[in-house]
Amino acid sequence: MSNVCVFDHPLIQHKLSILRDEKTSVKEFRELVSEIAMLMCYEATRDLPLEEVDVKTPVAVAKCRRIAGKKLAVVPILRAGLGMVDGMVSMMPNVKVGHIGLFRDPETKLPVKYYFKMPADIAERDVIVVDPMLATGGSASAAITFLKEVGVKHIKLMSIIGAPEGVKKMQEDHPDVDIFVAALDDHLNDHAYIVPGLGDAGDRIFGTK
Ligand code: PRP
Ligand code: URA
Repeated sequence: MSNVCVFDHPLIQHKLSILRDEKTSVKEFRELVSEIAMLMCYEATRDLPLEEVDVKTPVAVAKCRRIAGKKLAVVPILRAGLGMVDGMVSMMPNVKVGHIGLFRDPETKLPVKYYFKMPADIAERDVIVVDPMLATGGSASAAITFLKEVGVKHIKLMSIIGAPEGVKKMQEDHPDVDIFVAALDDHLNDHAYIVPGLGDAGDRIFGTK
């Protein structure tokens, strides 16, 4: 069964409390999503392999460790996942970025795919899928299925808020995928929105409501 890691770091929890607030402006919301993604990235990449290198300082040679050429990609689920990309890229400037476009049909609540563009060598890369909301889990599960279909073997999912229903679906469909969230909320309402959640992440990032 996949590992679920809930980040309880005070900086993340503080920023999340402002993010949830209905009075938070679009500008601040967008900045907070990016900052939380950056902080979560720090922890979600903890297992990256390192290699020893010698670095000549002005004084002597220091035995140092650098990331061992791991091929990574960040894949946001459009739209809301886009808000998390900057934060990840600021930590990993050379990371490749693929995009999966999905929206939730308001009637069926099922994901509808409208875009899929990956780096050419995506099958050789470890992938971190980012989407602020893991609600029913339909979007994340479908996105990960599409990635597996093109040969990706190692995938992590990073969301800001998860619902128990979404975690359960992910664990059923993709038990090999580790899940990172800043909070696990209570339940979904009748519209499949996370309670208490933060509302519609895409609308709040892009100011579309
Ligand atoms: C939101 C969110 C996830 C999805 C989560 O996107 O960003 O992708 O819903 O719900 P699920 O777990 O029930 O699938 P939405 O479909 O609203 O599209 P948007 O990002 O374009 O606003
Ligand atoms: N998508 C969102 O943006 N918010 C939710 O609470 C559920 C799905």
